[in-house]
Amino acid sequence: MKPETASPYGHFDDATREYVITRPDTPLPWLNYLGQDEFFGLCTNTAGGYSFWKDAKLRRLTRYRYNNVPYDLGGRYFYVNDGGEVWNPGWKPVKAKGVKYECRHGLGYTRIVGERDGLEVETLFFVPPGENLEVWKVTVRNKSAQRKTPKLFSYQEFCFFEALNDMTNYQRTYSIGEVEVEGSAIYHKTEFRERRNHYTLFACTRPIAGFDTSRDAFVGIHEGLHEAKVPFAGQATNSVAFGWNPIGSHQINLDLAPGAEESFAFVLAYVEQGEAPKFDAPFVMNKSVGRAIVEKYSAPGAVDAALANLKAYWDALLGNFQVDCPNEHAQRMANTWNQYQCMATFNMSRSASMYETGIGRGMGFRDSNQDLLGFVHMIPSRARERILDIAATQLSDGTCYHQYQPLTKKGNADIGGDFYDDHLWLVLSTCAYIKESGDTSILQAPCAYADKAYENVVTDTLLDHLETSIAYTMKKRGPNGLPLIGHADWNDCLNLNCFSTEPNESFQTAGDVRDSKAESVMIAGLFLYAAREMAGLYEHLDRNTDAARMHGHYAEMLETVERVSWDGAWYTRAYAADGSVVGSHTNAEGKIFIESQGWCVLGGAGANNGRARQAMESVHQHLYTKNGVVLQQPAYSAYDLRLGEVTSYPPGVKENAGIFSHNNTWIHLAWCQLGEGDRALEYYLSICPSAKQDQIDTYRGEPYVYAQMIAGKDAPCFGEAKNNWLTGTAAWTFVVVSQGLLGIKPDYAGLRVAPCIPKDWPGFTVTRRFRGDTYAITVRNPDGVSKGVKALRLNGTEIDPTKPIPVVGDGSTHSVDVVLG
Ligand code: BGC
Repeated sequence: MKPETASPYGHFDDATREYVITRPDTPLPWLNYLGQDEFFGLCTNTAGGYSFWKDAKLRRLTRYRYNNVPYDLGGRYFYVNDGGEVWNPGWKPVKAKGVKYECRHGLGYTRIVGERDGLEVETLFFVPPGENLEVWKVTVRNKSAQRKTPKLFSYQEFCFFEALNDMTNYQRTYSIGEVEVEGSAIYHKTEFRERRNHYTLFACTRPIAGFDTSRDAFVGIHEGLHEAKVPFAGQATNSVAFGWNPIGSHQINLDLAPGAEESFAFVLAYVEQGEAPKFDAPFVMNKSVGRAIVEKYSAPGAVDAALANLKAYWDALLGNFQVDCPNEHAQRMANTWNQYQCMATFNMSRSASMYETGIGRGMGFRDSNQDLLGFVHMIPSRARERILDIAATQLSDGTCYHQYQPLTKKGNADIGGDFYDDHLWLVLSTCAYIKESGDTSILQAPCAYADKAYENVVTDTLLDHLETSIAYTMKKRGPNGLPLIGHADWNDCLNLNCFSTEPNESFQTAGDVRDSKAESVMIAGLFLYAAREMAGLYEHLDRNTDAARMHGHYAEMLETVERVSWDGAWYTRAYAADGSVVGSHTNAEGKIFIESQGWCVLGGAGANNGRARQAMESVHQHLYTKNGVVLQQPAYSAYDLRLGEVTSYPPGVKENAGIFSHNNTWIHLAWCQLGEGDRALEYYLSICPSAKQDQIDTYRGEPYVYAQMIAGKDAPCFGEAKNNWLTGTAAWTFVVVSQGLLGIKPDYAGLRVAPCIPKDWPGFTVTRRFRGDTYAITVRNPDGVSKGVKALRLNGTEIDPTKPIPVVGDGSTHSVDVVLG
C-alpha cells in the first residue's frame, strides 16, 4: 500500500470503491450513510447510528444519543455469546479483547466483520434502492476445528418518531411505548392507536429462539450497553414493552459444524398503513403490510438481489462522470467519494450527521441550492423537483425562509428569513440544472411564493422567482450602493445588524434588519455572477431585451464594486451598520476576508484592471496555509458587537479564521479562471481528505469526505477537521475538479471543454454522460500548458474550440479529442 493512501487506521480500496478501516478505535467515529431515496441511516465504523424516513426530526425510527460518552454509542448492534464469551463484531459496545475487526464503508452500505476464537460474524447494512427499509445481513462462519453453538442477539432501540419530543418529554414518553411481536417480527407501534398511521418493523428472516422488546429487561436499569444482561446471561426474556423504552432484540441460536456457515437477515422498515384497516381486533394492529415485507426479504436470494441492485444503482450513477488523471487524490475523490458525498448533502442538507442532530436544521435555502451543483449531473429529475420545492419557500418580496422541513416542505418560522444572499443561489442552481438537462420548461413550472394567497391556481412560475431574486438585490442596497446584508450573507456569522449582548439569543435571528444599512461586498460579487447567469439564460431563450436588462444590472453593480470595494490590494468584505468598513487594511483585525475575493473574482470584477490577480495574490500571501485558506486574518481576539458571531469563536476555528473548506473552493475556481492550474491543484489538495492520510491523527476526520472546517493556523489544533460530510464543500469541490481543473462544463448548447491543469500533466481522459449521450474525452497537453484549447475534434471531425461541443443526441458514445496549447 502506498503510504499516501493508507493510514494506521485504514486505506482506500479503489477497485471496490470502499474505505477499509482496520482498527475500530479511529480518531473519531467515522461515519457512512445508508440510503439514497427516502429512507436513511447513519452508520459509523462501529455500527453506531440511527435511521429515519425522509425527515430526521419528524420520522425518526431508532434512537441515538448525541454527544454521548463515548461519542458514538447505540446503533445496529449484535452481541455474540460464544460459549459464554460475549463480544460484538463491530467492537462496540462490549469492546472485548482479541476481536479481529474490519469495516468497509462502501457506497450506500457498511460491512463490518468481527472474528474471535475461530468464529467469524459478518454484518452488512444497506437500504435497497426504492425501498423504505434497511437490510442487515448476517453471516456467521465457524472457522475453527470444533463444532460451535453460538447465540446471537440483535439490538436496537426504537425512537418515538418525533425526535425532539422523544429526547425531552419523558413525562409522556415513558408511558406511551407499545409493541407487538409476531413470530420473528417486532412491531413498534407507539402512537399508532391515536393519530399515526405508520409504524416501525424490525424482523428477522429466520426463526428465532427468543426476543426482547423492553430495554430494562434486555440491558438492565443500572447496566450499560457493554454489560447488557440478556446477552451475558445467554437467554432472551421474551419481554413485551409497556411504556418506558421499547427496543428490538432477537435471539438466534446457531449450531455450526467446523467450516459451516449460516446467513440470514433482519429488516428494519418504516411502514405506512395506507388504506388498510388499522386494527384486526382491539389493540391488535393489522400487520398485513409488514408481513408482506418480511415475506419478500425471507425469499431465497432476495437480500443478495437487493444488494446487487444497490451496486448497479451506484455504478450507473457514477458512470455519469469518471476521470483518469495524474493525481490520484483528485481522481479518487471525483470518481467516487465526492459524488457520493454530494448524494448525502443533497438528501440531508445540514440535518443529520455526527455534528447535526437532525432536530435543529432541516434543509437550508442557500445550502440546498448549492448542494445541487454537485448533484445535478447524477439525477437531473430529482434536482428539478428540489429546485421547485426550495423556490416555494421564497416569499413574494424576494426574501426566503432560511430553512425548511423536508417532510412538510414548509419554511421554519423559528429561524425565519432575511439572509440577503439566499435568493441569489436559486439562480445558480436553476441555471446549472438547465445547462445539464437542456430542460428550459422548468422556468415556466408553476411555483408559489410561501406568503402569497392564490385563487385555486398558482400563477407564478420559477422564472418569476428568479426575476424577484435579482430585483430584490437591485432594490435593497445601502448607502454605498452595495447589497444590504440582512441577518448575514453566506457567512452566517458575520452579523452586522445583530448587536447582541444577551447570551440567550441566537446571533442568527437577533437584531432588527428592517431599516438596517449594513452592506455586503460578497453579495455584490455573487450578484455579478448571478446577473451574468441570468443574461446568459435569456440569450439562450432568445430574449435579448431581458438579457440586455441583466447586462445593465451587471454593469451597474460592477461599477459600484470597483468604485467602493477596492482596498488597495484586495476587495473589502462589508460595510458595518455604522458605515465603517470591514475587511480592510485599516482594520486592526479581520483585514482581509476570503469570501469577497472569491466572489468578486468569479463575478468578473478586477478582470480588466489587474485587481483580480492582485486580490488572489493577497489571498496567497495572507490567508493560504498548507491545510487550506483561512477565512480571514488577523483572527478576531475579542467579541465585537458590530460584527456578531464571527468574533465569538476562539481564533482559528469556524468563521473566525478557521479554514472553511466551502469557501476555499471559490478560490480554487478563481485560480482556474486566472489560468493557474498548478495553484488550483495545490490549493485543492490542501483541503482534500484523501491527501491527509499521513497526518490523520491531527486531521481526525473521515479520510473519504470533505470537512466543513479545518482548524486554522491560529488554533492550537491547526489541521484538525470538524463537521465532516454535510457541507457545501462537497458540491463545490466537484465543480472545482470536474469543471475548473478538468474543465468539462455543461452549457446550454452542449458540453464545453476548457481545462485548467498543472503544466506537468501530460493529459487526462474523462467519460461524461450528458443528455443521454456518452462523451469519451481525451485531453492531451503536448506543450505543457495550463490552459487554452488549440484543437478540438468530435468523432474525428475538427470543430470550433471556443464553442461547446454540440449535442449529438443519438444515445451513443462520441469521442472528443482535445489538444491544449
Ligand atoms: C451553513 C451555511 C453557511 C456556512 C458559513 C454553514 O454551517 O450551513 O449556510 O453559509 O456555515 O457560515
